[in-house]
Amino acid sequence: MKTRIVSIVLALLLTLGGVGSTAAQQAPADPGRDVSNNAEMWRGARRGIEGYVSIPNKQAGVLVQSEGENWRNWRNGPISTYGIWLLLGIIILLAVFFAIRGRIRVEAGPSPRRIKRFGVIERFSHWLTAVTFILLGLTGLNMLYGRYVLRPLIGADAFSTLTAWGKYLHNYISFAFVLGVLLLVILWLRQNLPTRADLIWLARGGGLFSKGSHPPAHKFNAGQKLVFWGVVFFGLAISVSGFLLMFPFTVADLHQMQLTQLGHDIVALFFIAMIIAHIYIGTIGMEGAFEAMNSGLVDENWAREHHSLWVAEIKGETPPSDRDPHGSAPAGGATRPAWSAPSPVSSSPLSSSPAPRRR
Ligand code: HEM
Repeated sequence: MKTRIVSIVLALLLTLGGVGSTAAQQAPADPGRDVSNNAEMWRGARRGIEGYVSIPNKQAGVLVQSEGENWRNWRNGPISTYGIWLLLGIIILLAVFFAIRGRIRVEAGPSPRRIKRFGVIERFSHWLTAVTFILLGLTGLNMLYGRYVLRPLIGADAFSTLTAWGKYLHNYISFAFVLGVLLLVILWLRQNLPTRADLIWLARGGGLFSKGSHPPAHKFNAGQKLVFWGVVFFGLAISVSGFLLMFPFTVADLHQMQLTQLGHDIVALFFIAMIIAHIYIGTIGMEGAFEAMNSGLVDENWAREHHSLWVAEIKGETPPSDRDPHGSAPAGGATRPAWSAPSPVSSSPLSSSPAPRRR
């Protein structure tokens, strides 16, 4: 008898349960409440509908953030691909330029005299910016391309360790880079304001494409001013975007951070391309240029050919004609070219010193 009663109660319960589930299936679709309607729920989730969570991280209320997929596709797609073309493109362009034009020589040959071009603080600021930039560039490129280039070469474990340390380096060294850029701005802003000579320099392609062409220039020519302003604006954009990424969700939300990250990559790639060209001209591209940032002293003939107005300014000479960078005469003095009779005593407020002949 007892067994019979239990069977009847069970049968009743099962029937009621069946009715209940049928009723749930027939209820109107409500993605927020009805979890049995999966298609509708996932459509909502895919649209980024925000639900309610009781944990402190309110962002967990968004189950699927679809912009994340767009972000990944952009980063690993066009940005990486065009970025590689940009960097290879600039290297190929410089190689072709070098093959055609060769090294830009000091056409008058070496002078026995040197002129002081950059002081210790200028060189320190330059190299602080340069070294930190190169480290930031290498660790950043590793984040973008390392898994395709380095990982197959050194293996997954070594790559992961290297990238993790690279990321720390990238984060911490960024502060020194910002300091370097700020110092350069303070030291060189005034000398990088545009002048009329820049238009002439640009119109003549800086004299880069033909031998014997030396458009006059002040301390920095128009090409260098473009590099300076590139460093300022790219530097600003890359630092602001970098700090937004380093301190997530302080100012930007998730989607804004994704856009910031894409912007950071694009600016970095253009910045690196510009600096590759800068390094080329400062080393193998032009004879005599590297000394300016190494010892701070430059060959006087180099200075007259590339920065004739600057030499005239610091030596108190009349500005040279743009045809003959060596033809300037001391103000109120003889008309002979200043370089033709070297004097060990400098007329420059920045000091010029005799130097041993280089050949
Ligand atoms: C190995 C790397 C580098 C080398 C060999 C190098 C070389 C040079 C040289 C020789 C000059 C002086 C040119 C002159 O006397 O007229 C110079 C200037 C300058 N450098 Fe660099 N540099 C390097 C990296 C960088 C980096 C990474 C930055 C910035 C991110 C930078 C920013 C500048 C700026 C703004 C100037 C002044 C404008 C100009 O001359 O273009 N340099 N550099």
